[in-house]
Amino acid sequence: MTSITTLPILSHGEEDLAGRWLPDLGPIYIKQRVERLTRRYITVEHLRDRIAELPQQFHCPKPRPWSSLRWNAIAADQISGISVETFCAILQGTINTEAPIHGYTQASRQYLTHYYPRMARFVGGTVDAAGQTTSPGLWELEEKRHTPALIAIYKQLAGKKPVLVPYAARPYTSSGAPRADLYRHGLHRIATEYGATCLYLWMMAYTTGPLQAVLGELLIDEINHMTKFWGFGRWAYPQTNLGTIASTLTQATVRKWRQPGLQGSLLHTLRRMTQELAWGQWHVSHQLTFLYSFDQVMRVLWHWDQSLTPSYLEALLGDRPGGNYNADQLVQDSANRL
Ligand SMILES: [Fe+2]
Ligand SMILES: [Fe+2]
Repeated sequence: MTSITTLPILSHGEEDLAGRWLPDLGPIYIKQRVERLTRRYITVEHLRDRIAELPQQFHCPKPRPWSSLRWNAIAADQISGISVETFCAILQGTINTEAPIHGYTQASRQYLTHYYPRMARFVGGTVDAAGQTTSPGLWELEEKRHTPALIAIYKQLAGKKPVLVPYAARPYTSSGAPRADLYRHGLHRIATEYGATCLYLWMMAYTTGPLQAVLGELLIDEINHMTKFWGFGRWAYPQTNLGTIASTLTQATVRKWRQPGLQGSLLHTLRRMTQELAWGQWHVSHQLTFLYSFDQVMRVLWHWDQSLTPSYLEALLGDRPGGNYNADQLVQDSANRL
């Protein structure tokens, strides 16, 4: 990956990580910058490398070091095509969505621990008999630097501290069908990592210099986690397909409608995300470029997904504990718990 630390703050028309930088970027330029960022950071080869290193990271977990970043040089003139106020409102929401990472990792660890202890350790580390963390997981170590980074950006741009609204992570809840619970939970995790990937890529399209460099580090982390969760899910649930995903998502949504207090559906997550990110205040051109980022990233993911054959994944991650879990059974198990 190109080192960004030595790049000067750019003036009119110079190239940055997303292409040509202009102080008044319009939607057409932003669209091109989104494409350029996707080609730079999210290629099939890159995703292949991220899943291929998973066994080694099970064995020897080490967080990816960040480049040295010029925090004090972050300034409002490194934003173009969106107002600083809207950008700060988005940052504020992102800060509240990233926390509390420890709660997220511990819920994921509990869903994984019975069938997939290696992945449980990767996301949530190890705990003692009383449930206290004895060593954090790699996912947590990498994610927990995001909130402080976003707070530092916010302070530089707004000249004040952001308002932190603490949320409790949704705790582990068993329905009695652990495979189906894990599948639903995993889809959720992949969706949030994918959302974060698209968000940071989109924010990079509107920024340059030291600000863009920090967002680049967040982006690389999110791509890494999204890829590992997706690839692992394809190995753990090889029989599943688009139909299974659709059924599971529909069931989760129906469950939410039947039990309005339930905090378990993707619909709920999506609604919370759009509220947090102040979506209603965005200009329509921002909404369109944001959706375009989702489209561009998903195209690469689908293309890469074709290479995730059962034989490739078994060679990489070994045999599945407990054998195959039939897709019909998965849908049935989920439905039985409604
Ligand atoms: Fe994050
Ligand atoms: Fe993440």
